[in-house]
Amino acid sequence: MNELPHDHAGGAGDVAVPPAAALPARLLCGPGPSNVPPRVLEALSRPIVGHLDPAFLAVMDEVSAMLRLVFGTANRATFPVSGTGSAGMEAALTNLLEPGDTAVVCVNGLFGERMCDVAHRCGADVVRVEAEWGRRVEPDAVADALTSHRGARVLAFVHAETSTGVESDAAAVCAAASAAAPDVLVVVDAVTSLGGTAVEVDAWGADVCYSGTQKCLAVPPGLAPITFGPRAVERVQTRRTAVQSWYFDLSLITGYLDERAYHHTAPVSMLAGLHEGLRIVLEEGLASRRDRHVRAGTRLQAVLEDRGYGLFAAPGARLPQLTTALVPAGIDAAEVRRRLLMERNLEIGAGVGAHATRMWRIGLMGENATDAVVDVLLDALPG
Ligand SMILES: Cc1ncc(COP(=O)(O)O)c(C=O)c1O
Repeated sequence: MNELPHDHAGGAGDVAVPPAAALPARLLCGPGPSNVPPRVLEALSRPIVGHLDPAFLAVMDEVSAMLRLVFGTANRATFPVSGTGSAGMEAALTNLLEPGDTAVVCVNGLFGERMCDVAHRCGADVVRVEAEWGRRVEPDAVADALTSHRGARVLAFVHAETSTGVESDAAAVCAAASAAAPDVLVVVDAVTSLGGTAVEVDAWGADVCYSGTQKCLAVPPGLAPITFGPRAVERVQTRRTAVQSWYFDLSLITGYLDERAYHHTAPVSMLAGLHEGLRIVLEEGLASRRDRHVRAGTRLQAVLEDRGYGLFAAPGARLPQLTTALVPAGIDAAEVRRRLLMERNLEIGAGVGAHATRMWRIGLMGENATDAVVDVLLDALPG
């Protein structure tokens, strides 16, 4: 760690102040964050206003309205949680779960594991529905688990597993859950899908869905868009115990959203940035944006396979915005990543899990899902 000298406490000029933060301009093709368009950067630098200022409240309302469109929902309780995607995960699970509840959690990668951890910390009995890493969550396995754990309160799964590059069929998982256990509340992690792959909260019948700003929405990390449906809101209102987290307690947050009562100081600049990012998403149109992600990702994946790379995610389940590439023998995956970063200002991600040492995670998210970025990658990657 770089410690600053502090020989003299107090007086002005007594410490060696470091130079301005040296953050280079990189092309961000890892698992997130992704690059941010200039319009969003400009919005981040708009004047600070109070979080109860009418001008800011109007921005908040518009953010919620735009998020409803992006999530495909009419849910009133739709807003950005202050915090990264994991804050969305915590907000979803802490609000719905009470100690002793059963939570069925699908695990086909790192973020399903994280959901188990969070649900466990809420005091829930966690039932895992495992799928091999690289494969989808199986709707039939979800139905079986819910049938053999009657009374489960929550079913949670990750739509787009960033650790493996796999998209699960969210509509099918939600349908299987509601057929097997009509009262179970379904939580969907859409951190890597929102803004890149279709997310249809109401059509799926999902009760809570959360995301993060730094992936296909192309806004810096720091907010977690979330939506709670009517059954989830009712669950929160009828809890036996207080939500373990004061910060994420939906009933307190909605006091701010609905009655403008102070809860915590909203991160004003980040919200201005998200507002602009959502405007860009909607100007492009969700279907065009999704098609753009599909075009870029499938082209990259096809050329990598031609060049002898393996693709870790199962065919038919591959996310276009996140490619898990297995490098051919003779290529030092870590060394190539290091060189791309240092020599070309190009970030790609390391692998996780059993194949970590020979895997890259290559993101084509948001602004970067273009032919031009695919060309840069194909020029830079060996083979
Ligand atoms: C699928 C998924 N869920 C949750 C998270 C956690 O988000 P964050 O790192 O923004 O807290 C991530 C982050 O990459 C993710 O990919």
